[in-house]
Amino acid sequence: ISKIGVLTSGGDSPGMNAAIRSVVRTCAFHKIDCVGIYRGYQGLIEGDFKELNARSVKNIINRGGTFLKSARSDDFRTKEGREKAYQNLLEHEVDALVIIGGDGSFTGGMIFNEEFGFPVIGIPGTIDNDIFGTKSTLGYDTALNTVVEAIDRIRDTASSHNRLFFVEVMGRDAGHIALNTGVGAGAEEILIPEENLGLERMLESLERSEASGKTSSIVVVAEGDKSGKNVFELAEYVEENLPGYDIRVSVLGHIQRGGAPSCYDRVLASRMGVKAVESLLEGKSNYMVGINNDEMLLTPLDKAVKGKTEINKELLRVSDIMTT
Ligand code: F6P
Repeated sequence: ISKIGVLTSGGDSPGMNAAIRSVVRTCAFHKIDCVGIYRGYQGLIEGDFKELNARSVKNIINRGGTFLKSARSDDFRTKEGREKAYQNLLEHEVDALVIIGGDGSFTGGMIFNEEFGFPVIGIPGTIDNDIFGTKSTLGYDTALNTVVEAIDRIRDTASSHNRLFFVEVMGRDAGHIALNTGVGAGAEEILIPEENLGLERMLESLERSEASGKTSSIVVVAEGDKSGKNVFELAEYVEENLPGYDIRVSVLGHIQRGGAPSCYDRVLASRMGVKAVESLLEGKSNYMVGINNDEMLLTPLDKAVKGKTEINKELLRVSDIMTT
């Protein structure tokens, strides 16, 4: 391998820039070339390539988003699109790819590897932490901190007005962000897709909180929650069933995806970039880099894509006890 390509694909996450920096500098360290591919698979198809050296990635470890930009490419789902991408890689003499993204991006990488035998390694970049084979995805820790800070601010105004707030957080089909920030910000109730305990329970818990002397409450709702009601409908449901509450809804949205990466995500990104490039140099392909018990590991891409992550059930109990 004498030249590695790197791209970011799917939803961006804090730490992607730090991971690109690490890939580029690890290539420089091993004296091989590195090329950045802009706009994910779309740029791969359109030949949007730029040679990168160690100095091209200065002052980006601290920046949110991805300077290579990201995209969700429909063309890459077609055989013609992938064929074009392959020709571009041959033309630029790229021997292997590092794909920084989520499970959709890894599925694309796997198909590409199967069709052309092209070496690929994935780095999990998503705030959702929903990828099997790593305890933490890039950007998850930063998103947790962003959400906790936002909920703290909401609590200030909630308690000033004796209000009940429903706060919707991201996570797609997973409740990791909701569960951890709910505990971290002391939410009275947390609704996550993995554990649908029914709406009665929420009413009871709110009543209990009020009876115990609480004058304001926060319910954290994962966007993928399976109660059958969205966050606005949940607010209406409580209004109808427990009259007297002054209720507000706050959907945190894309602020959760931006901002400077936390120290944890910067270190993780640096470690993942080194592991990805060095694994390719050792001849490994079709794996995802991950972390467990503070050790870097590789998981076959198909397992990473198909496997399910599990929520930490202990946190549910901790949350119950904390809201006594
Ligand atoms: O996967 C990251 C994520 O931010 C999810 O939490 C969310 O459901 C989705 O992406 C939002 O996607 P978009 O940026 O396309 O609106």
